[in-house]
Amino acid sequence: MDENPLATNALSNDFLLEEMRELWRESDTVWEECRNQLEFGGFVSADYVEIYQHLVQLQGKVTTFLEWGSGLGVVAIMASRLGYEAYGIEVEPLLIEHAQQLSERFGSEAEFAEGSFIPDDYQWGIEEVGNPSRTNFDTRAAYDDLDMELRDFDLVYAYPWPDEHGLYLDIMRTCGGEQALFLTFDAREGTSLRRARDE
Ligand SMILES: C[S@@+](CC[C@H](N)C(=O)[O-])C[C@H]1O[C@@H](n2cnc3c(N)ncnc32)[C@H](O)[C@@H]1O
Repeated sequence: MDENPLATNALSNDFLLEEMRELWRESDTVWEECRNQLEFGGFVSADYVEIYQHLVQLQGKVTTFLEWGSGLGVVAIMASRLGYEAYGIEVEPLLIEHAQQLSERFGSEAEFAEGSFIPDDYQWGIEEVGNPSRTNFDTRAAYDDLDMELRDFDLVYAYPWPDEHGLYLDIMRTCGGEQALFLTFDAREGTSLRRARDE
């Protein structure tokens, strides 16, 4: 990897990068101020620099983008500012509120919906995907509110906890678009980009 991974041609939009750095700082501040609130219990932020690089590399190759469990909405906001048609789905209303404020402040057109990213028609077997403790299974899916279905997205991003990877991949494999790309971040493994249907 480059010593300065952002000093590449693909990331030559210095102006946008500066804005995004400000977004990352502001989202950190929100996190510092709110981290003890109950609604922030399931939220952890990813490595936005790495994810930004992926989004830049895929710019122009895919159109629709969805952030699962969008939290403060940082990745959906970056995607929108990079020209994607961007959406986020998050189960915690307070996080949606923060995401919408950040989105407006950073000139993004990302659309956020409150609810679950697990499609209502997803059939899951506990044996295959385990029993992840942090995923919310009690809320109805939010796709109708976005007037979209999971299969409509070209690129889906998620930050699963270690015990959620199997479930997330299974949802993408069974309900995602044929050609959809699945970008994940893992605190230990970093980012991974793949076509979920190929797995
Ligand atoms: C690890 S955080 C990731 C935040 C953000 N996507 C990021 O990468 O910085 C996971 C988020 O998923 C949300 N979440 C958990 N289960 C969900 C579900 N079924 N549907 C929508 N959001 C969910 C949590 O509230 C939390 O904000």
